[in-house]
Amino acid sequence: MNFRSTSRNSILAVAVLTISVASSFVSAQNPRPHPEPPYAHAAWMNKDLSPDERADLVMKELTLDEKIDFLHGQGMPGWGKPKPNYYLGNGGAGFVLGIERLGIPFIQMSDAAYGVRSSAMNGRYSTALPSNLGAAASWDTESACDYGALIGRELRAQGYNMTLGGGVNVTREPRNGRTFEYQGEDPILAGTLVGNRIKCEQAQHVIGDIKHYAVNDQESGRNEVDSIIDKRSMRESDLLAFEIGISVGNPQAVMCSYNAINGDYACENKYTLTDVLKKDWGFKGFVLSDWGGTHSTIKASAAGLDNEEPGENFYGDAYKKAVEDGKISQAELDDHVHRVLRAEFAAGLVDNPIQKSVVDVMGGLETAQHIEENSIVLLKNSNHILPLDRNSIKSIAVIGDHADMGMISGGGSAQVDPPGGTNPPWLAHVWFPTSPQKAISAKIPPASIKFNSGADPAAAAALARTCDVAIVFVDQWTSEGMDLKNLSLPDNQDALIAAVAAANPKTVVVLETGTAVKMPWLDQVGAVAEAWYSGSRGAEAVANVLFGDVNPSGKLPMTFPRSEADLPHPTVVQPPPHSQGASPVMRTEGAKASFSVHYDEGLKVGYKWYDAEKKPVLFPFGFGLSYTTFAYSDLHVTPGASTNVTFKVTNTGSRAGIEIAEIYAALPASAQEPPKRLVGWSRVSLAPGESKEVSVSIDPKYLSIFDVDGNKWKLVPGSYSFMVGGSSQDLPLSKAVSLN
Ligand code: BGC
Repeated sequence: MNFRSTSRNSILAVAVLTISVASSFVSAQNPRPHPEPPYAHAAWMNKDLSPDERADLVMKELTLDEKIDFLHGQGMPGWGKPKPNYYLGNGGAGFVLGIERLGIPFIQMSDAAYGVRSSAMNGRYSTALPSNLGAAASWDTESACDYGALIGRELRAQGYNMTLGGGVNVTREPRNGRTFEYQGEDPILAGTLVGNRIKCEQAQHVIGDIKHYAVNDQESGRNEVDSIIDKRSMRESDLLAFEIGISVGNPQAVMCSYNAINGDYACENKYTLTDVLKKDWGFKGFVLSDWGGTHSTIKASAAGLDNEEPGENFYGDAYKKAVEDGKISQAELDDHVHRVLRAEFAAGLVDNPIQKSVVDVMGGLETAQHIEENSIVLLKNSNHILPLDRNSIKSIAVIGDHADMGMISGGGSAQVDPPGGTNPPWLAHVWFPTSPQKAISAKIPPASIKFNSGADPAAAAALARTCDVAIVFVDQWTSEGMDLKNLSLPDNQDALIAAVAAANPKTVVVLETGTAVKMPWLDQVGAVAEAWYSGSRGAEAVANVLFGDVNPSGKLPMTFPRSEADLPHPTVVQPPPHSQGASPVMRTEGAKASFSVHYDEGLKVGYKWYDAEKKPVLFPFGFGLSYTTFAYSDLHVTPGASTNVTFKVTNTGSRAGIEIAEIYAALPASAQEPPKRLVGWSRVSLAPGESKEVSVSIDPKYLSIFDVDGNKWKLVPGSYSFMVGGSSQDLPLSKAVSLN
């Protein structure tokens, strides 16, 4: 049997960057005079007015047909019959018409989970950042901001003014093929990071989007699955991530998801769209459907869906007729239109028209590398095998599929076009041109660096035996539109690692994964580093960590379980036969979800599950090693309007390093919560021997529970235990205080 399936559709992008330059050039000496547009002095162009006031003024000028145009997209390249306006798009997943005579621009949308997707088909270039899950391992709000700002800049450079991305579905199901697009299993960490990403992305004058709202936690049967979950659990986990993301990032768009929630499809779910999002959270932007996620006209409109994407099955002629027949009121129509227009003003689209420009390739590569360096998680390092010693090592075996040329990325609508490549097919395996072999050679030029693909484990082991160190790069490819059957590395890679480790105990494993993996070979290898999907400069970042030029600081944003049997759902619940599959399809009004997943684990998501069920794990949430060591002391907890937690962290080793110090709280027993929850953290940079006092103020909501009857957050009076340390299972400090 082949080690790597030959049917696998693999693409390796060539390392040549083809960058298109702006097609027209206007001489600086002789600028072409711009005639003033007719709307230049229109009342709504006054920047001193609020986005609401400006949108209201535009509304007065609109015909019914123009209003309807704001409520739907104009089709998607490659899906269905091309629409008449198709040629006006920019090659992205969708666009909404503007009104030229009023100076209201088109909304040009591109997917942009870990970089701008539709670039090469546009003759352009995008930076691939580390996967969203990977970047979440940095626990770093500054990295999240850099991530968003880069995407925002590159969107505009390529002619887009709206992102589709900012995924923040908490990891209830680690086999979900889109886990790499999200920010892990904790709502406070995930929401804070996605919020910072969106804040900085939108500052570039693109509409920021948060998705997929909500409880869209598996891809199997995603168009037909009903997520059954009690309200309290939803508000305290899945929805809390959105609540925080929206409050921090203020995105002007929310994408509702494909699945149903407690009986109603997410894009026609009054509870999630109107009661929670628009009323409780005061969201003023617009809700757009996931592509083909609209199921009705009147029901969806009443429930709070503002915009159908990518076409107009329900929000075009059918919507107009419903208004004319009095089945949808003028006020309801106007509210939806107002929200789209308002978003264009609020995100700066009207005042800052897009001008295509050249992407800052080198700047992007630097950012991608820096974020990856903050995101790599060192999981094992026995006998200080890492960092590799440049003085003593004479030979290294670099082993693994494509490890001579590139590192893998995640698929689906998140897929960033690789430089020099063309738009890859939907489920292609794409390796970015960042070569582990070359990056390692560059670190230690005198040493002999030999490559083996690992296709034949015996040959790889034979090479490893002759070298001082073996570094095995293994990958687990995941994508939208599929779930993993299990958390094993595919394609016999476990056997490859075991064979190499048996031949050379100085074996280092570098994981390129989209979610957790099992490691049956863990005891046999010297070191393990989780590099995630590492982006355009992954190999350079990995090499910096392996050789100690960067001291790793990442911590797991999700638990790595021991076995699938330990998960809340031992197998992924599958749709009935003849389901619609994962691709967007035309919906039939009134259709119901055909099967359901019962999230009976409720509040117990991720580490909360393993804690409550007392299940040992492979690596706990929040875990990650450094080349130095840290000690914790002097915990003080001061209750107040927001509780203040202070403590000291000391670098007790001989290298500078960054420690992510984590704060957890156990609520009073009467709150009936899982044993503990993350309530805060701080990234502390310390020189050898240095100590710093850390002070974190805890948002009262993070200590509260959601009271469903009262429809509000509530602090349960009683004794709260605060625990501080370096992972969810290593919390040396603790203190109980009474909160009222
Ligand atoms: C995905 C969305 C994506 C959209 C447009 C859908 O299949 O679920 O995340 O933004 O396609 O490409």
